[in-house]
Amino acid sequence: MLDFQKLKEAGTKISIVTAYDFWSARILNNSAVDCLLVGDSLAMVMHGHATTIPATTEMMALHTQSVARGAPEKMILADMPFLSYRQGTKEAMRCIDALMKAGAHAVKLEGVDGHEKIITQIIKSGVPTMGHLGLTPQSIHKLGGPRIQGRESKTANLILSQAKKLEDLGAFSIVLECVPADLARKTTDSLSIPTIGIGAGAHVSGQVLVFHDLLGLQPQFKFRFLRTYLDGYQVLTEALNAFNHDVKNGEFPNETESFT
Ligand code: KIV
Repeated sequence: MLDFQKLKEAGTKISIVTAYDFWSARILNNSAVDCLLVGDSLAMVMHGHATTIPATTEMMALHTQSVARGAPEKMILADMPFLSYRQGTKEAMRCIDALMKAGAHAVKLEGVDGHEKIITQIIKSGVPTMGHLGLTPQSIHKLGGPRIQGRESKTANLILSQAKKLEDLGAFSIVLECVPADLARKTTDSLSIPTIGIGAGAHVSGQVLVFHDLLGLQPQFKFRFLRTYLDGYQVLTEALNAFNHDVKNGEFPNETESFT
């Protein structure tokens, strides 16, 4: 398994990209990206929901299985979905069991206040656990939408103290989503475990992005923090239109593409 702590101590930034299926996992497996996250964002990206809330343990486990088959050489993180760690130990353990047996090497969960006991129990069960603070999409309705978190000193201090709490409970790393860069830097400097940013500036131990966002496959999502490395939507549309054109004009298949 990837040693996050060693990478932070060596000053080597950690790269994480989401993966939801066998096909993209295979590409990521053969890339230099460090680690794959089966994020509950799959509810939106793969299933068309408006939020991550409809993700279930069964969905997460099914996608994790496909990713594990496609990326046998990478570390795989899987998100614990909405309420799976809020319905008591039995449900949390059922979820962990499903995710780990599906091929995850570690799990990620949002927040900390109110579920310290469950987090301790998960970690004591030998399951590496990553925290997620700042904009926590499972609480999107409470947060009033996808907004930057920790702009005021009260909320910034809360994020800082939650991060410290997660470290003390034994989390091996924390995702900081949509927080001011200064707060991310302060949090990173005050922890010994690595922080992974998304919309948290450069002063973190690594970065995570959604596969489809970084490849420009979801042009409707335009975030300030997002860098797109390919105009994937356009490239795919042009290829599909070229196929349609060739079919309509009798140019596909040609002789070499036909059996004699
Ligand atoms: O579900 C997800 O994709 C995530 C990342 C955005 C961090 O949690």
